[in-house]
Amino acid sequence: MIAARIVIAGALVATGWAATANSAPHAAGPSPQELVAARQAGMVMSASSLNLLKGASANGAPLKNLTFPASGLAKWAAAMPALFADNTRGVASRATAKVWTQKADFAAKAKAFADSTKALADAAKAEDKPAFDAALASTAASCKGCHDTYQTPPAPPPKAG
Ligand code: HEC
Repeated sequence: MIAARIVIAGALVATGWAATANSAPHAAGPSPQELVAARQAGMVMSASSLNLLKGASANGAPLKNLTFPASGLAKWAAAMPALFADNTRGVASRATAKVWTQKADFAAKAKAFADSTKALADAAKAEDKPAFDAALASTAASCKGCHDTYQTPPAPPPKAG
């Protein structure tokens, strides 16, 4: 009886361990695939935030209400370069090899993005509409400025017929 209890307890511990091992982050940090998934998710959300900011500004929303999404973009811009770690180079993604062969220029493009989004968040806080619109334009330009060199274009749609 005691032996049976020990076996059951052992089985429970083993199951619990297995469940934790499956869902817990890797002890050594995120895998390259996880880094790629995180940066792609951040990019998609940054596009949503930018669209929201453009629409809200065009509709005359009080800029102070836009501080939250604008600051979020600035946080993303500061964190994003780290997700292009060297160990992600071999993972299938839409990043071009130039991300890793022209590191200084990639970093400069990322800095332009960080500077623009910081100006955007500052202008929202200050309720400064001309500065906000200028920063919105420079932020959008910084997305394109990086993608032109560092993101492969989307695959063309399949031909009809
Ligand atoms: C410093 C360079 C850089 C900047 C700045 C940048 N991007 Fe990207 N973006 C990339 C790269 C490289 C990829 C491809 C990443 C991948 O596939 O892992 C990408 C991918 C994307 C994707 C596709 C994500 C997916 O896989 O579905 C979107 C959407 C996107 N970016 C939007 C934006 C927007 C909007 C901005 C500006 C607010 C922006 N990006 C700023 C480099 C940049």
